[in-house]
Amino acid sequence: MAGAERRFEAPEIYGRAAIGRIARSLPPIERAYANIRFSILRPKLLSVMDLLLPDEGRILDIGCGFGLFAAYFGQTQPGRQIVGVDPDQRRIAMAKRVCERLGLEGHEFHAGDARDAELKGTFDGAYVLDVMHHIPAEDQLPLLARLRDLLAPRGVLVLKDITTEPFIGLKFTEILDRVMVGWDEPLNYRHHRDWAQMLTSLGFHVRMVRVPDVLPYPHVVIAATKQD
Ligand SMILES: C[S@@+](CC[C@H](N)C(=O)[O-])C[C@H]1O[C@@H](n2cnc3c(N)ncnc32)[C@H](O)[C@@H]1O
Repeated sequence: MAGAERRFEAPEIYGRAAIGRIARSLPPIERAYANIRFSILRPKLLSVMDLLLPDEGRILDIGCGFGLFAAYFGQTQPGRQIVGVDPDQRRIAMAKRVCERLGLEGHEFHAGDARDAELKGTFDGAYVLDVMHHIPAEDQLPLLARLRDLLAPRGVLVLKDITTEPFIGLKFTEILDRVMVGWDEPLNYRHHRDWAQMLTSLGFHVRMVRVPDVLPYPHVVIAATKQD
């Protein structure tokens, strides 16, 4: 976009209006989930991710769930075309409905597993929001390699996950994750240094920040830029 046409504003810096609209577009149970999710993923964290992601172009949302964050990042920067992927058909249908209700156009949602879903073209950015620890440990590196291959040169992969220290923070998160997924599904958290080493071995340039919270979640945001 030409410099003269750009509007240098900082609308919705705390994203409250965007979050409110998303919650109101959902049926009651999903609305309650959305309110909990947005109280965990506070505006501080979302703003970090928002600024790391490109403000326009195609952006991949891996494990998009109900499309809460596609609807958020799609509202904060309307030039983004978000492509969400999640194996849960019901969540994909809900993500489409949320965007429809909010009048957000140009986004797509596909039911599929990020490890092998058919994804066409390249992406200017991608984000993986609290999903990597649900991927089997042996598939995490191949999935990151797949994402690298899907990114355009200088594309950024934003990985938000939970790091493994402090231990108490990890256990706090694990208990809450167990409430959601039960006891059978393995949870494959990694220390942020592990993620950084994996991403670096794949040729990404890596930067990371911890984002403290009032609750003891050990949130970490990792920005991995694909080198030319
Ligand atoms: C904790 S939820 C996070 C959903 C959403 N990113 C959010 O932050 O609200 C984890 C999501 O990852 C999805 N998921 C699990 N395995 C996946 C895979 N192999 N490929 C894509 N998504 C996956 C689940 O269906 C679920 O929607």
